[in-house]
Amino acid sequence: MTINESGWRPQMSMSERVAGPVTATGNRALMLEEPLIFEIGGSSTTGVDLPPAPQVPGRLGTLARKSPVGLPGLSEPEAVRHYTRLSRQNYAIDLGLFPLGSCTMKHNPRLNEKVARLPGFADLHPLAPVATVQGALGVIHELGEWLKALTGMPAVAMSPKAGAHGELCGLLCIRAALEARGDARQVVLVPESAHGTNPATAAFAGYRVENIPATEDGRVDLAALERRLGPDIAAVMITNPNTCGLFERDMKNIADAAHAAGALVYCDGANFNAIVGRVRPGDLGVDAMHINLHKTFSTPHGGGGPGSGPVVLSAALAPFAPLPFVERDAEGVYHLIEEETAGEHHGGSFGRMVAFHGQMGMFTRALAYILSHGADGLRQASGDAVLNANYVLRSLDDVLDAPFGASGPCMHEALFSDKGLAEGFTTLDIAKGLIDEGYHPMTMYFPLVVHGAMLVEPTETESKAALDQFIGALRSVAERAKAGDEALKGAPWYAPRRRLDETLAARRPVLAWREEALDEAAE
Ligand SMILES: Cc1ncc(COP(=O)(O)O)c(C=O)c1O
Repeated sequence: MTINESGWRPQMSMSERVAGPVTATGNRALMLEEPLIFEIGGSSTTGVDLPPAPQVPGRLGTLARKSPVGLPGLSEPEAVRHYTRLSRQNYAIDLGLFPLGSCTMKHNPRLNEKVARLPGFADLHPLAPVATVQGALGVIHELGEWLKALTGMPAVAMSPKAGAHGELCGLLCIRAALEARGDARQVVLVPESAHGTNPATAAFAGYRVENIPATEDGRVDLAALERRLGPDIAAVMITNPNTCGLFERDMKNIADAAHAAGALVYCDGANFNAIVGRVRPGDLGVDAMHINLHKTFSTPHGGGGPGSGPVVLSAALAPFAPLPFVERDAEGVYHLIEEETAGEHHGGSFGRMVAFHGQMGMFTRALAYILSHGADGLRQASGDAVLNANYVLRSLDDVLDAPFGASGPCMHEALFSDKGLAEGFTTLDIAKGLIDEGYHPMTMYFPLVVHGAMLVEPTETESKAALDQFIGALRSVAERAKAGDEALKGAPWYAPRRRLDETLAARRPVLAWREEALDEAAE
């Protein structure tokens, strides 16, 4: 079979690709220009035929609307086309490798989706009598048992709905435990490389946050931590593996030191995907740890929610876990422990995180993923995730600076800095260049402890061929940034929109459509 060489070829030069007549529509074949929804149709158009409104006396008085609502008027096909066209301008894990570090963008198996859509799970009412929803409660319970076994922790709170929500749950348990022993500690210690949600959560839970510095090799400075521990420290919050993509080898010593000083240990388990089946945080002295189901157990990410962030708890914190939770009796019947039923058995709970049981659609997906992999499959997944990240790190450390390259193998993420780029070239230029190469950019400028950080998390789902193609793309963009290729400053050239003014977009975002807002934005 021969290749039809009359079409587009990857080896075509940039000038060959850009050249071509300007089109009348602004479209470029399947790359369709799309106006705002307000600019399509008009307010007199509707998608449905309604009978004329009957004349009824208004009852709103002075509250009656005096001007048109200003909603866009579209027929059904116009609305469908608008959103379908927009969706084609999105990048997605179903389109290609999604290197966003700290986000674990892995393939979501379709089996999960099939299971989550079973009407017996999808159509349940949260107030259905317990006797009629034994299967659903069984799913929540069984998933909880897996999470306990995988982390080596004796208890789990299933209801938090995101990683950050789980952090809050864990800190509220810690707060309740300290209050129960009459201990009014005020400070939470957080490493300077932590995800922003850690200090934010600690502050939200009413604590003062203090930073712990990192050592040269990117890990928590144990000596500095020990010096700061004292009777005012409520907890230490450690991310492991950390946001520099490194395993905190001193975790057990950190936990022992914290416990000896009367503090509790929170572990940010967002990066659990790197160690599942290999390390049990409970063995390292952790008291509370959230697990982002949407990262490790392949449930969809949902733009800050609805995710799911169950929190595993030590025996010291279990009595303070939130309600409601599911319990299984000796006959295999599931019960819901709520305020009315908690009694002395669970009287110390700090309260509720959410109205009901958590994110059922995520529980079904995560359990389907776990059962289809089995314990050995999960262990292989974490091994492959780490192998893939090290492959990326070592394939690019000759062209990009790897600040912790000498600290040994990385875990799930390969971290690079902007050191060595040509004068005036930045991490942002590399990110924009990657868009032209057909990739979503890696995470940039995080963690803050690395100048111009580029954090790449390939995950275990990428094949060697996919990794090689990505590495080739990033290598080419990095070489252009080092050589000072001015064309890179103009990237992206091929995206639906060219480079935006990031400062203006952050400082003066125009989020609602108004005629005047468009004029403002154009200024
Ligand atoms: C290290 C770390 N901690 C916490 C979070 C917060 O998780 P979520 O976005 O589910 O609230 C994230 C999110 O990516 C993370 O990477």
